[in-house]
Amino acid sequence: MLMTNGVFAQDADAAAGEKLFKNNCAQCHASDASVVVGPGLKGIEERRDFAWLKKWINNPASVIASGDKYAVELYEKYNKTQMTAFPSFGDAEIKNILAYVKASNEAPVASAAPADGAAQDAPQETGGGKFFNIVLVALLAIMALVLVALLAVLNLLSKISGQGEQTGGGISLESLKENFKVLSANKTIRSAVIWLFIILGTKATLDGLYGIGVHQGYAPKQPINFSHKLHAGEMEINCAYCHTGVYKGKQAGIPSASICMNCHNAIKRESPEIQKIYTALEKDQPIEWVRVHNLPDLAYFNHSQHTNVAGLECQNCHGEIPKMEVVQQRHTLTMGWCIDCHRKTDVNAKGNAYYDALLTAHNSTSKESMKVEDIGGLECAKCHY
Ligand code: HEC
Ligand code: HEC
Ligand code: HEC
Ligand code: HEC
Ligand code: HEC
Ligand code: HEC
Repeated sequence: MLMTNGVFAQDADAAAGEKLFKNNCAQCHASDASVVVGPGLKGIEERRDFAWLKKWINNPASVIASGDKYAVELYEKYNKTQMTAFPSFGDAEIKNILAYVKASNEAPVASAAPADGAAQDAPQETGGGKFFNIVLVALLAIMALVLVALLAVLNLLSKISGQGEQTGGGISLESLKENFKVLSANKTIRSAVIWLFIILGTKATLDGLYGIGVHQGYAPKQPINFSHKLHAGEMEINCAYCHTGVYKGKQAGIPSASICMNCHNAIKRESPEIQKIYTALEKDQPIEWVRVHNLPDLAYFNHSQHTNVAGLECQNCHGEIPKMEVVQQRHTLTMGWCIDCHRKTDVNAKGNAYYDALLTAHNSTSKESMKVEDIGGLECAKCHY
């Protein structure tokens, strides 16, 4: 979709970079100037040299730890959000990504508006969306012109045929109204206008729907600075020690303050953050953790089915929680996301007698492995009450 111009094509491949970017960076970065989780990468090569960028992308934590002023300030500015490290990325991969970022900002914008402003005003819009808008505006403009021209012609005609006499020959409201009636009686024009409204309406609805309720990247500040990086990462406390329902039930569950007290009645008592746990217990008020992941009520999701039966890791759906200082929603949690995995993932049928009959039936009709969709994972009623 992007055009690679001669300069990049020699040593870097923006198309390969686009793929790398979309798969690895796009959940946190935009290629233009807008902030997603991290800063927009537009103009990054003017801000930082290649050596720095390579070190950073390979291991951001070590650049911050080295005391690099720029890195530390950036880290503070983005609320100490840890960027994922990409230690396997060599010069070629990084150059490709940079070439893509550059090319996507240089991609010709086919409108008269200044390219810069347009890119910033509509950060979420894909190239396709922008193109569609331009076509729509052009269509509207043409329609308006045609309408005016037709009105003028009709007016002229009616003048020539002498019907406009009583108005003195000028364009009056009456004659315009009359002409408008004639025009709106014309089937072609009427259906063209109706179609235009249908297209506009559909686009607005779709744009709205795709955005509603999607909270990818959501990482609210919590009432206590509880760190998964410390507890689940460095200390390797098992997830189910705190999320006691996660292998057994629908809800994973958020631990009560008393679970924290198993350790914190002795550890770090003096810390103001830990004092908040004591206060909650003393006042008998639960800690008001802010919910991060939240499906709408119309959808049914069960943890044990996915963790216990399917044998999926938490990471499949929540990202690298043991590396997160603050929990962040990494996936969209949309219906499309659930369905996509159900289409791709094999049923974990090994050692599960429940699936023996299904598996035999499946293997007799298909050479493909048995996916979740084959056991009804795409049926509306499985996920909707
Ligand atoms: C999990 C989210 C996340 C992912 C994935 C991620 N980044 Fe970042 N990135 C950040 C954050 C947050 C910052 C701001 C610094 C900080 O908080 O550590 C940042 C900063 C940067 C910076 C410095 C930006 C500036 O304005 O100076 C560059 C360059 C960068 N990231 C490149 C990448 C590339 C390339 C990828 C993909 C290979 C990537 N990042 C993937 C979150 C992410
Ligand atoms: C010591 C207790 C503890 C351990 C161990 C722990 N968590 Fe948590 N977890 C919490 C608390 C407290 C919260 C609520 C505050 C927050 O969001 O940080 C939470 C929140 C979460 C959330 C977000 C819940 C929401 O609101 O949507 C997820 C996802 C999560 N944990 C996953 C994990 C995973 C995966 C592991 C293991 C790798 C793990 N947790 C280990 C205590 C723990
Ligand atoms: C298995 C033991 C254990 C459990 C359970 C546990 N923690 Fe911790 N927590 C620790 C240890 C160890 C530290 C690190 C103390 C240090 O830095 O010396 C710590 C540090 C912290 C800190 C940082 C304190 C500071 O000021 O540096 C916070 C906040 C915290 N825990 C909150 C919680 C909360 C909330 C829970 C319950 C959801 C919880 N912890 C459950 C062992 C535990
Ligand atoms: C197949 C995807 C998937 C897997 C695997 C998964 N989760 Fe979740 N998790 C979700 C979804 C979706 C939600 C939101 C559920 C809702 O709003 O009803 C969620 C919510 C949560 C929550 C907050 C709400 C609750 O249920 O209490 C916690 C905590 C959590 N998950 C922890 C974990 C842990 C720990 C693991 C691994 C042992 C895990 N999850 C594995 C998809 C998953
Ligand atoms: C990472 C992959 C993955 C994601 C994401 C995922 N699922 Fe699943 N899901 C599975 C697997 C694997 C099974 C098969 C479990 C089994 O063997 O019963 C399954 C089974 C189910 C079932 C039972 C289907 C049946 O036929 O019995 C329901 C319901 C379900 N998932 C709902 C959801 C919902 C709702 C979401 C999104 C919020 C979701 N899943 C996201 C992998 C996933
Ligand atoms: C694997 C689970 C799964 C299956 C199967 C599934 N859905 Fe959904 N559906 C979801 C989830 C999760 C949401 C909520 C997603 C969101 O808020 O973005 C949802 C949302 C919806 C919504 C509301 C959309 C909105 O924007 O509020 C409708 C309508 C819907 N589904 C219809 C269907 C129909 C019809 C089918 C069968 C053809 C179906 N779903 C099958 C998981 C599923």
